[in-house]
Amino acid sequence: MFNDLQKEIVKLKEEKNATLLVHNYQTGDIQEIADFIGDSLELCIKASQIKDSDLIVFCGVDFMAETAAILNPDKKVIIPDKTAECPMANMLPAEELRQAKKRHPDAAVVLYVNTLAEAKAEADILCTSANAVKVVQSLDEDQVLFGPDMNLASYVQQHVDKEIIPVPEEGHCYVHKMFNIGDLYFLREKYPDAEILVHPECDPEVQKFADHVLSTGGMVHYVAASPKDTFIIGTEVDMITRLRRENPGKTIIPALSDAICQTMKLHTLEKIRNSLLNEEFVVTVDEKLVGRARKAIKRMLEVS
Ligand code: 13P
Ligand code: SF4
Repeated sequence: MFNDLQKEIVKLKEEKNATLLVHNYQTGDIQEIADFIGDSLELCIKASQIKDSDLIVFCGVDFMAETAAILNPDKKVIIPDKTAECPMANMLPAEELRQAKKRHPDAAVVLYVNTLAEAKAEADILCTSANAVKVVQSLDEDQVLFGPDMNLASYVQQHVDKEIIPVPEEGHCYVHKMFNIGDLYFLREKYPDAEILVHPECDPEVQKFADHVLSTGGMVHYVAASPKDTFIIGTEVDMITRLRRENPGKTIIPALSDAICQTMKLHTLEKIRNSLLNEEFVVTVDEKLVGRARKAIKRMLEVS
């Protein structure tokens, strides 16, 4: 049953012919009214397929909303709280990438979708945590500049026969940096039959300790298909909200209940309602960057 605010948003969505795209890290009340909920790759694909909506409301962080705007030049993309930024995306300024490209002129440039449009425009191809290995394997080059997440870079390095050069050297996600093997060790002792799933933004030793390293979308599919009934999840806490709702018969345990992405939580039902009413805050991308950034995103979608 929807509450009054949820009902109001559903009605406004209809009146405005709007689509509500929601990342897996949004709170449960927002997840419930989503037209589509997913990881950053799934949201990217969905954004590229939206045909008959006049308005896209994006509940995620800035780089995700920008990607939806780049892929939908004829539509208005709005974000309920315009300060919802991903700190990791800000760790790779375009100028730093340009300097790295000068130092490694023969390397391909693969950027995590967690980057801002100006950096995306400097990339040959983008990737997400769901397709990073596949994207890198699709390239002819033996050297790859990869940024900004050093842990995803390390994950990719273990799965490809190429040289991965992280740029910047220590780009990271503060949320996934919180996980540690001490907590996982304790949980493994407590729940010996559980499977441990962690995100590739976690540190390499945490990835090594886990049973599987998966994107948030990968976790959704894995838990649904697995015959196991207990899972320890190493990513942002509202991933657990989604997994519990969709798998009522299974036990889903957070590896760390404090792993909260603060900027993802800036979106609220009130702000979504206001955003729809006032058609704000419109996501814009510099005209000079759109073409090149779109090319790198589309190349990724062709590989995925
Ligand atoms: P996913 O692509 O797995 O949803 O990850 C996005 C993200 O920001 C993880 O912190
Ligand atoms: Fe960025 Fe980390 Fe939040 Fe993902 S969880 S949006 S990488 S800060």
